Amino acid sequence: MSTSQTPVLSIKDLFIEFETPDGAVKAVNGINLDLFKGEVLGIVGESGSGKSQSWMATLGLLAENATTSGEVTFDGENLLTLPPKALNPIRGNRIAMVFQDPMTSLNPYLTIETQMVEALRIHNKRMSKPDARKRCVEMLDRVAIPAADKRLKQFPHELSGGMRQRVMIALALLNDPEVLIADEPTTALDVTIQAEILDILLDLQRERGMAVVFITHDLGVVAEICSRVCVMYAGRLAEIGPVQDVFTDARHPYTLSLLKATPRAAQSQAAQSDDALYAIPGAPPNMRMPPPGCPFEPRCACADAHCREQVPALEPLQGSETRLKACFREGSSAALLEALVHER
Ligand SMILES: Nc1ncnc2c1ncn2[C@@H]1O[C@H](COP(=O)(O)OP(=O)(O)OP(=O)(O)O)[C@@H](O)[C@H]1O
Ligand SMILES: [Mg+2]
Repeated sequence: MSTSQTPVLSIKDLFIEFETPDGAVKAVNGINLDLFKGEVLGIVGESGSGKSQSWMATLGLLAENATTSGEVTFDGENLLTLPPKALNPIRGNRIAMVFQDPMTSLNPYLTIETQMVEALRIHNKRMSKPDARKRCVEMLDRVAIPAADKRLKQFPHELSGGMRQRVMIALALLNDPEVLIADEPTTALDVTIQAEILDILLDLQRERGMAVVFITHDLGVVAEICSRVCVMYAGRLAEIGPVQDVFTDARHPYTLSLLKATPRAAQSQAAQSDDALYAIPGAPPNMRMPPPGCPFEPRCACADAHCREQVPALEPLQGSETRLKACFREGSSAALLEALVHER
C-alpha cells in the first residue's frame, strides 16, 4: 500500500459533549489523530465509545445538542468552525461518508438517477445532464451493479440491501473524494455480499489513493483491509498502530480484551487458546460521570491505584514511531495476557 506520511486530515484535541436533560454526555474526550493520504484506518471499540460521533463532527453532522472544541484540519481549514457555506463544497465532494443503513441516506421518493445526478451537479455546476448520467452509469458499473441503465430508473426500495449499499458507495465516490468515512458500511449485509463490497471499496481506494476511515465492530475485517487501527474507549484513543503489530502484540489491556473477545480476529492470537469465548467483564463507564482516572480502570485486570487517579496520555511506545498507547502499564501483550488469564 502506498501510504505516504502526509496527513490529509488532522484531528487535534477534539472534545464533543451532548447536552441532555440528565446532564452533559462527555462523548469524546480529547482525540489527537492524523489520517494519512492513501491509508485505510480502522476505528474499533465497543458501542458508545465515540467512533461515529468523532467522524460525524468532521463533517458538521452532529446533533443540535452537541458542542465541540478542538480542531479538524483539512486543506488548511478547521472544519469544526467553517460556516456551512464553506463546508458544503467539501462535504460529499472532497470528504464523503457512507453509513450502515443506506435507507437513511437515500431519498425513498427519488430515483437512483435523480439522486446521483444531483450529487454530481451540486459540486460541478457546469456538468451537463447527459455527461452526469454517463458518469453515473460508469460509477454503477464500477461498483459491479449490472444493467446500470435500468437501475438508474429505479427507486431505492426496488433494490436489495447489497445493491443499495453499492449505490451508496457509488454516490460517495462520484466526486472522487480525498477522504471516505465508512461507518459500518457492510454490517447489515450477509458475509458474501460484505466481502464483495469490501473488495470493490479496496480496489477503488487503491486506484484513487484515497484515505479511508473504516469504522467497524469487526476486527476480522480490520485485519483484512486496514493498514492501521485505532482502538477507542470511552471517547478516548486507547491504542493506535499498524494492524499487524497491534493485533499480534497489543499493548493496551483494552485492545487485548477486545481481541480476546473476538473469535475471528483472535484466532491468530495466543489469547484464543481456551475454548470458551471471553467476554470483557463489566460495562463501559457512564459518560455523564466518567471515572477520574483511566476510563478502563474499573474493568482492567492490570490496573493499580495510580490508574484510578490519573488519566494516561496517549504516548509512543518506547523505540517505536508508529505505535502509541494510553496506559501506564509497561510490558508486552504476553505479560498483559497473563494478567487477563488470571482474572478468569
Ligand atoms: N444527540 C445525542 N445526545 C446525547 N448523547 C449522544 C447523542 N449522540 C450520541 N450520543 C452519545 O455519544 C456517545 C458516542 O456515540 P457514538 O455514536 O460515537 O458511539 P459509537 O462508538 O459509534 O457506537 P456504535 O458502535 O454503537 O455505533 C454515546 O454514549 C452516545 O449515546
Ligand atoms: Mg457508531
